[in-house]
Amino acid sequence: MEIYLDTALVSEIEAARDLGVLCGVTTNPSHLGSAGHRDMKAAIQAICRIADVPVSAEVTAIDTEGMLRQAREIATWAPNVVVKLPTTVEGLAAMQVFSREEHAVQTASDQATRRVPINATVIFSPGQAAAASLAGASFVSPFVGRLDGVGQDGLQLVRDIADIFRVQRVETRIISAALRNPIHVSESWKAGAQICTMAFSVLTELLHHPLTDRAVEQFTKDWEKLQRTEPVTAPS
Ligand code: E4P
Repeated sequence: MEIYLDTALVSEIEAARDLGVLCGVTTNPSHLGSAGHRDMKAAIQAICRIADVPVSAEVTAIDTEGMLRQAREIATWAPNVVVKLPTTVEGLAAMQVFSREEHAVQTASDQATRRVPINATVIFSPGQAAAASLAGASFVSPFVGRLDGVGQDGLQLVRDIADIFRVQRVETRIISAALRNPIHVSESWKAGAQICTMAFSVLTELLHHPLTDRAVEQFTKDWEKLQRTEPVTAPS
């Protein structure tokens, strides 16, 4: 059960890290844009330095050769980077080539070579998830909230993918994505998604409960009141 933050805002990622809940980060070109990053490499490298967790960086090309060129470039940016490829026909072709390659990357102490994990993104059907897994993806990202947004059941997609992967003993991990509220998160975990990626606002909703705040406030008040009261009898 893991929490990823779905953002490119450094301050949010640092805040989640400091809470001890950050297991990974997913970015996309829209997140980078809304966070004001114009230089994708510099932004991803800065995010990768915040915590030693997987950080997904997405290609922007839509043809297989372009995706492969960008994926190979992204692979050199940091030892904890994950390449995000769209689950299109062109993306699947890129996945099956890239997943078999080894890539050199500079670590803190030396030059290492590794297979860079693939996050197969924009998934809206169980078939796409199965195909991405066969093409070598380490993660599949079904977009729950976007399906809800067009009147379909996004959580049912997560349940279906999780059932298929369980029955077929598939090791590809599920990142439940485009989550809009804490119910999306808990239901995704219950369904079998190992990871939920969420906006900082959803993480905040997940952590807070008004009854917790009320109870803490009451305990503090009661204790302070007691400090101001003269003891009736000496404590034994
Ligand atoms: C996941 O990896 C995506 O970045 C993300 O969840 C996109 O969803 P949204 O833009 O609909 O929130």
